[in-house]
Amino acid sequence: MTEQVAKTYFSKELLSWYRLQKRDLPWRKNRDPYRIWVSEIMLQQTRVDTVIPYYHTFMSKFPTVRSLAEAPEEEVLKCWEGLGYYSRARNLQAGARMVVEKYDGIIPDDKMAVSGLKGVGPYTSGAIMSIAFNRPEPAVDGNVMRVLSRYFCLEEDIAKPATRVGIEKLAVTLIPEGAAGDFNQALMELGALVCTPKSPSCLPCPVMEHCEARHTGRELELPIKTKAKAPRKEFRSAVIVLGKGENEGKILVRQRPATGLLAQMWELPHLQVPDDKSQWFSDSALKEQGELAEMLSHMVEGDTGLLIRPRNWLMDADHIFSHIVWKMRVYVTDLGEESVEDIRKLAAVSSEDLPMLAAESNEEYEVREVANTNSDVLTYRWISKEDMEQLPFPNLFLKILQYYWN
Ligand code: ADE
Repeated sequence: MTEQVAKTYFSKELLSWYRLQKRDLPWRKNRDPYRIWVSEIMLQQTRVDTVIPYYHTFMSKFPTVRSLAEAPEEEVLKCWEGLGYYSRARNLQAGARMVVEKYDGIIPDDKMAVSGLKGVGPYTSGAIMSIAFNRPEPAVDGNVMRVLSRYFCLEEDIAKPATRVGIEKLAVTLIPEGAAGDFNQALMELGALVCTPKSPSCLPCPVMEHCEARHTGRELELPIKTKAKAPRKEFRSAVIVLGKGENEGKILVRQRPATGLLAQMWELPHLQVPDDKSQWFSDSALKEQGELAEMLSHMVEGDTGLLIRPRNWLMDADHIFSHIVWKMRVYVTDLGEESVEDIRKLAAVSSEDLPMLAAESNEEYEVREVANTNSDVLTYRWISKEDMEQLPFPNLFLKILQYYWN
């Protein structure tokens, strides 16, 4: 069989299969470019089943580019809470603002203009141009690279940018005349439902007959993908500080700086434990908990003027980013009035309690705004359980707060 025959067969069979079998997904109701854009951003690194409820909420809250552009960022982040990779939400909103400013709120049928929007890379611009405008542009993500690597038995490492470029060139040649949107979605659909990473379902595959990997028994070997480095571990420790007096029942949280990782989201006060102290996190390191408590107390006092008295360990929890894993150890603390010396004495007497330390005596429970080392202002505030539902928290902190409050 010539390559051209294999290509024509692939395009025709895949398109027919998709038109009969496609899932009824909310972003497939119409070809509104805004709806397609939002769906493609949400679907990056996230499964369809996870995205669907978020998509419904997001579209009812921000039904148009303009409504998204005009919304407070915190509201957008709140809608994204739990989906992760929050820069996607921030970029999407920045992109919406560009569409309002430059294109009067209308996403243009123009590849250069769409590619210039914040957060829109080659995959997303290809998806928008093809699905919304039916332009013959490739939309090649990891799933599509897997499908094409198998069907054509391509042996290049798909982790390399040059491989993606090569596969994009191939993908364009496969797009049937006038059916770019359906064809690109068909490729995605095949990758998601049939040609899956670990156990491809070759028997019901509409293009199995001419799949090179299947013929040569290499469907589990392909695609070739060099492994990314294991994420680096960061040991961190957080405190749930319990309010007193007028803040009884509330806990202390703070907002992250406007730039960087998890920008502007809310979190529990926490610090990174120096790498050479990571042994503090081993179960047998009870004595060192005192030092950790001292560091936490210092941080909270330095930032807010509040004296805390760590009371007990609550939980350990992990948060996985693409390159880092946060290993978070969480303590519950009261507001303290004892001096450091008092607590030291207490710790010496009762070694069964985690010997935690508070700073000096304190009568004030007011929280002030402070600058962190990057001179970004960190805003601290006391929140109730109901406030938690309004503010955007990364998943890790949401899990911890829900665990504590439930
Ligand atoms: N994954 C990425 N884009 C998709 C889409 N439009 N439909 C289904 N899954 C997808």
